Amino acid sequence: MPWYFKGMTISRFGIGLMSGTSGDGIDGALVDFADGKVRVVTTHFHPYPAKLREEVFLASRTDGSAELICRLNVEIGKLFGKAAAALCKKAKIPLTQVEFIGSHGQTIRHQPNGKNGISSTLQIGEAAEIAAITGCWVVSDFRPADIAAGGCGAPLAPLAHYVLFSDKNEERVVHNMGGISNITWLRAGVGIEGVTGFDTGPANMLLDMAATHFSKGKRSYDKNGDIALKGAVDKKMYVHCMAHPFFKRKPPKSTGREIFGPAYFNGLLNIFGAVKEADFLRTLAAVAASSAVNQVFAFCKPKRAVRWIVCGGGAFNHALLDEIRARLAGRGFVTMSAELGYGEKDIEAVLMAALAYRTLNGMHGNLPKVTGAKRTAILGKISIP
Ligand SMILES: Nc1ncnc2c1ncn2[C@@H]1O[C@H](COP(=O)(O)OP(=O)(O)O)[C@@H](O)[C@H]1O
Ligand SMILES: [Mg+2]
Repeated sequence: MPWYFKGMTISRFGIGLMSGTSGDGIDGALVDFADGKVRVVTTHFHPYPAKLREEVFLASRTDGSAELICRLNVEIGKLFGKAAAALCKKAKIPLTQVEFIGSHGQTIRHQPNGKNGISSTLQIGEAAEIAAITGCWVVSDFRPADIAAGGCGAPLAPLAHYVLFSDKNEERVVHNMGGISNITWLRAGVGIEGVTGFDTGPANMLLDMAATHFSKGKRSYDKNGDIALKGAVDKKMYVHCMAHPFFKRKPPKSTGREIFGPAYFNGLLNIFGAVKEADFLRTLAAVAASSAVNQVFAFCKPKRAVRWIVCGGGAFNHALLDEIRARLAGRGFVTMSAELGYGEKDIEAVLMAALAYRTLNGMHGNLPKVTGAKRTAILGKISIP
């Protein structure tokens, strides 16, 4: 334990708060770390109001103003604090029993290997506000320390995927389908140092933009993939999308709205705007599924059939699941993460609690092989109420 925590034991209840690139809202998990184990006590989803989601997307664009980002930082921090309080209420455990909170915040911009050779990333959601509302210590802003160590700052999830899902006998892939899709490769019997993982490209991000576009704003996503299930893959659009150079780049790699956001989507509409809604959505689902499956087989080279564990909101989209099953065809089988004990939408929140726990106990939170960092790093900054 580092000198500043001498005499302190960080051992029991912690909360993790996560909002990803989909900007759908805050996933929260109350985790019991007694005896060094990870036991999920209660989870809670706190949606973003539609207006806030819109503002987050506006702030994420190159023309997002400093005024907007500055205000959203505090607004989102307050909402994260409320989400933590609501989670505790649901769990019937008072906030005073919670030792710490790990908060991811909301990504506004993620630019690994950006302009002038600079890697940078920006998550907002003021941790001092969360600390003030909850009375808890808050560890936040996990990604910059990995970037300072030479990494992409992402993905961070493979650490949690390893702890929750690695297996002695089975070859396993954990596929998190958020706005962006990322995979963790867990070879049978792998140790933490052998874990690899990377972003594979878009998952829900383009699907959500398409759902919003075709419904003229009435729908923000294709619930359960119902519309896509009625469609068929448009071959030309599929070939066009699959040619994206990101899919061929070797890991470590990570991506975000900067590459697969509105500019890319509008480009697609310019060429394929006449494709009907169900086919458009189905094609995007096929692209998300194929690009992930192809990259796993190209870069990870499983030796035998893999258990393909799906999580993230995209795991509820049956068109995505059907496409993954079709592409795996005999090379693997799909399992919902909940079947192994962890709810699809909860895993990244558990990760945030685990990262905060590690930071407060002086342990590193990044996996250099995954992020491309030159060394391990203790992640995050601490806000004290
Ligand atoms: N029932 C559902 N059917 C289809 N898609 C869903 C469903 N629930 C969530 N999603 C998708 O998952 C997204 C949120 O997933 P999440 O894992 O929170 O991603 P992120 O980490 O990017 O916020 C939503 O924007 C939506 O596209
Ligand atoms: Mg989300």
